[in-house]
Amino acid sequence: MKLFQYQDNELFCEDVPLTAVAAQVGTPVYVYSQAELVKRAEEFLTAVPPNALVCYATKANGNPVLIRMLAEIGLGGDVTSGGELFLALHSGISPDKIIYSGVGKTRAEIEMALDAGIHALHVESEMEMGAIAKIAAERQTVAHIGVRVNPNIDAQTHPYISTGLHGHKFGVNPERAMAMMQRAAAHPWLEPVGIASHIGSQITKLSPYEEAVQFLIGMADELAGMGIKLDYLDVGGGLGIDYEGDWRVETESPAPQIKDWVDIVSHPITQAGYNLVLEPGRSIVGPVGALVAQVVYTKEQGGKQFVIADTGMNDLLRPSLYKAHHPILPIQQPVTNNQQPVDIVGPICETSDTLGKERPFPPTEPGDLLAIMQTGAYGFAMASNYNGRLRPAEVLVNGDKFHIIRQRQTYQHLLDGIEE
Ligand code: LLP
Repeated sequence: MKLFQYQDNELFCEDVPLTAVAAQVGTPVYVYSQAELVKRAEEFLTAVPPNALVCYATKANGNPVLIRMLAEIGLGGDVTSGGELFLALHSGISPDKIIYSGVGKTRAEIEMALDAGIHALHVESEMEMGAIAKIAAERQTVAHIGVRVNPNIDAQTHPYISTGLHGHKFGVNPERAMAMMQRAAAHPWLEPVGIASHIGSQITKLSPYEEAVQFLIGMADELAGMGIKLDYLDVGGGLGIDYEGDWRVETESPAPQIKDWVDIVSHPITQAGYNLVLEPGRSIVGPVGALVAQVVYTKEQGGKQFVIADTGMNDLLRPSLYKAHHPILPIQQPVTNNQQPVDIVGPICETSDTLGKERPFPPTEPGDLLAIMQTGAYGFAMASNYNGRLRPAEVLVNGDKFHIIRQRQTYQHLLDGIEE
């Protein structure tokens, strides 16, 4: 059962009508379902083999309340900056369950990771490995590293979120990765423990993963032949979710189920004698959240109907940045079936500030509420203060209760750090 659903023509999150959240907290507001979050995290943990590490990619949604919940269930974290490492540690993720990926780790960030004693740093260039070795030697600490290899596999997703081709900035090519592993194995302050790949995001086919897994196993076996025995193979994140579905009718998800993804990557890795590491972000938090907003005005122009909402690309960048499609639903469904195509837009001074183009929508008027679905991942995380707009509140629903897990910003926040 979906945890956002209509009851008597009104959209609920679990047992809370979204009208109640809007009335108490105002709009725009991100609303998350605790039950959906826990369900998805548990789906991962029950599907993976023993000793696997499911490292939640905190970049998808960095709210510490959500991260803490995932940590308590047993997830680790995949972080990509000092800030994310700080949030992961603050939220109770045990350091030995944290991996750190990213092409531009600074000296301060490497020091922070070594001091915290994280599971491994995933190295993305020779120069970076040199920096880690130097800092580890200075601190007389052995740095556990994995090399992020770029396997040249087409993830068949949006070009902006495809990361595993040789022309991309991520990882290192396989020959170089092999050489780096050998150098690391011979270095007194480096210990190679795994290899990682992350081929992209919002991937809805399993075949690119089958290819990536075989690739990683091939490399690890070759290293084993040279006496370098790795502990784990990390397949990254990237499992897609259903952005096409419409909560008003039953539809089949185009994205694979969590269990199917885990099965396809874990079986060969386990058989080959390695532990599995995964870095899912979107597939854990994406379906957990909806962005609730209000209609400010409607207008007709150039033969089009516009619905102007009190949220826009500053709160949810994905439609503007990637032309991403998110289902947009009226929170109170009128009894009429008279739906007209409308463009749902935000108040930002950019033409690309369009949340949904030509969406079938019932007649609507100022004050009506709408929900932009599947926005738990890369929603709030990519929000900004552009156009002097305040970052929205975040609310967590649990059964028939809800509470604010991040206050809406106030105008005072716009002066944060300003020296006048
Ligand atoms: N691991 C690494 C090294 C990554 O770079 C990412 C995402 C993940 C794991 C998690 O991927 P996921 O399971 O969430 O697909 N802003 C874009 C997505 C960018 C993803 C960046 N890397 C969007 O809104 O679609």
